Amino acid sequence: MAKQQVIVPDIGADSAEVIEWMVKVGDSVAVDDSLLVLESDKASMEVPSTLAGTVVELLVKLGDSLSEGAAIVVIETADATAVTAAEPQEAPTDTIQDEAPVKSELQSSAAELPKAQTGGSSKHSVLVPDIGTDDAVEVIELSVSVGDDVAEGDTLLVLESDKASMEIPADATGKVLEVAVAVGASLKQGDLIAVLEVSAASSTEQVVVQEAKQEAPVVAAPASSTVAPVEPKAASVAPVRAAEPQAASSHSEVVYAGPAVRKLAREFSIPLGQVSGSGPRGRILKEDLHAFVQQRLSTPTATASSGTGIPAVPAVDFSQFGPIREEALSKIGKVTATNMQRSWLNVPHVTQYDDADVTDLEAFRASLKDEAAKKGTKLTPLPFLLKACAVALKDNPKFNSSLSADGESIIYKDYVHIGFAVDTPAGLLVPVIRDVDKKGLWELAEEVLELAGLARDKKLKPAQMQGACFTISSLGALGGKGFTPIVNAPEVGILGVSKSSVQPVWDGSSFTPRTMLPLSLSYDHRVINGADGGRFMNQVVALLSDIRRLTL
Ligand code: COA
Repeated sequence: MAKQQVIVPDIGADSAEVIEWMVKVGDSVAVDDSLLVLESDKASMEVPSTLAGTVVELLVKLGDSLSEGAAIVVIETADATAVTAAEPQEAPTDTIQDEAPVKSELQSSAAELPKAQTGGSSKHSVLVPDIGTDDAVEVIELSVSVGDDVAEGDTLLVLESDKASMEIPADATGKVLEVAVAVGASLKQGDLIAVLEVSAASSTEQVVVQEAKQEAPVVAAPASSTVAPVEPKAASVAPVRAAEPQAASSHSEVVYAGPAVRKLAREFSIPLGQVSGSGPRGRILKEDLHAFVQQRLSTPTATASSGTGIPAVPAVDFSQFGPIREEALSKIGKVTATNMQRSWLNVPHVTQYDDADVTDLEAFRASLKDEAAKKGTKLTPLPFLLKACAVALKDNPKFNSSLSADGESIIYKDYVHIGFAVDTPAGLLVPVIRDVDKKGLWELAEEVLELAGLARDKKLKPAQMQGACFTISSLGALGGKGFTPIVNAPEVGILGVSKSSVQPVWDGSSFTPRTMLPLSLSYDHRVINGADGGRFMNQVVALLSDIRRLTL
């Protein structure tokens, strides 16, 4: 066992403030686990541990201003061979001083680019400054758009690596002519961010010239309407000015939050712009996200906007119109209500309708009635629907997919599990039949009976209601000509089945009586477009109309 200190690495600024602890005494940490968050005027960064072990002492407190080399924590490591500190305060030089990968010096090289002169103004390219890493870093927020006026120091965009988020400021005052990047792009030092139109006067005022290789920045040339813009030979704009970010920015939408908070917010789709920050300078902390979510969850859905701007349904005292009776929703009823609302609000639905000619299917089903009875089962249209959907799901993989939680990708499933809605006295339940594509009609018929029985007896296990890729909601036994089923998100499709009936169908020369089964297919229009939907529906209709195809 050895006690060692972790110190502040090169943070690219003279000092930065401790704004968040990410560990406490007694915590076990691994190398690279974040210990605390430091914030300078323009960057927040998580400082990682260079040691693995147990935190035994915190050497700084929130609000402290730290510089490179300051000791942060004492960690007891198990590794006896590690460099061992004596008592940290007495021998700080014995501490592990590995350079942690945190660095966010914002030193722009923008002025090294020539400025294109256009009359009284010039074009100025803003490049990614030294961001302390050679790795590409992702753009997570754009704070300006074409046409905006920006002042030197205004935030143009926010970059985020695993360990730090940094605002990249404009290094000149002017109008944004071009934004060269988009959210999600990966940038390195020297990449073009934006082109500004800088007026001659303001470029003279703003450009701070620094002779190449000279240490100290040269003072800006004085503003003068008669002086031509300074064309630096080999110059760089001085480091970002130390202004209060909000005061300096003309963009009130700028959000102050560290990478960990931003990540958490993205995971839970929390709009950071709507969260009030309780940290220094309004910085959003994890606790603020928790409070935001708690507040949203505790707001009764019936009386408040869901946060999506949808007006709340007013509470009405119905007893003023006549006698009433109030019954609490069952647990299943409440879960169903929540799931339905979530799907309906999140998923842009499209529903397509068609009729399948099931005359032959019904004749085949009737011919198997006795055999089914002998087997102790019942062959309803549902096993045929399951089978047809399984084939269509395999042939139309988008229907067998889900949108990833962050909306960035589509997850395709190589299994075909299908849920089917069961109406029970306690409410709607959706048991799932696994690997429908690998099962025969008899097997599916038995499983439908078994799972529907378990559902009605409230004996379904949670695992029997999980993992569906697609759902069938059959109201065929009840009637109806069509309905709009709600997608069971994160599934992307659901097939509604209404009651079949004999209809006169034109066969080209005469009307013939055919048994037609009305189908309604709802799908998530973020993943599936109308043509995909049409193809899926056509295939299901074709399969049900000619069940020999199910065997192909
Ligand atoms: N058209 C005409 N008749 C149909 C039919 C259809 N689309 N679907 C089923 N039938 C018939 C069956 O053949 C059966 O007739 P039979 O006894 O003469 O053979 C009868 O209706 C009853 O069928 P059922 O016992 O309901 O079996 P099923 O396999 O069709 O359905 C369940 C099983 C579990 C899906 C069904 O009982 C159920 O609960 N449906 C409700 C689903 C629901 O609530 N959806 C809404 C979700 S919001």
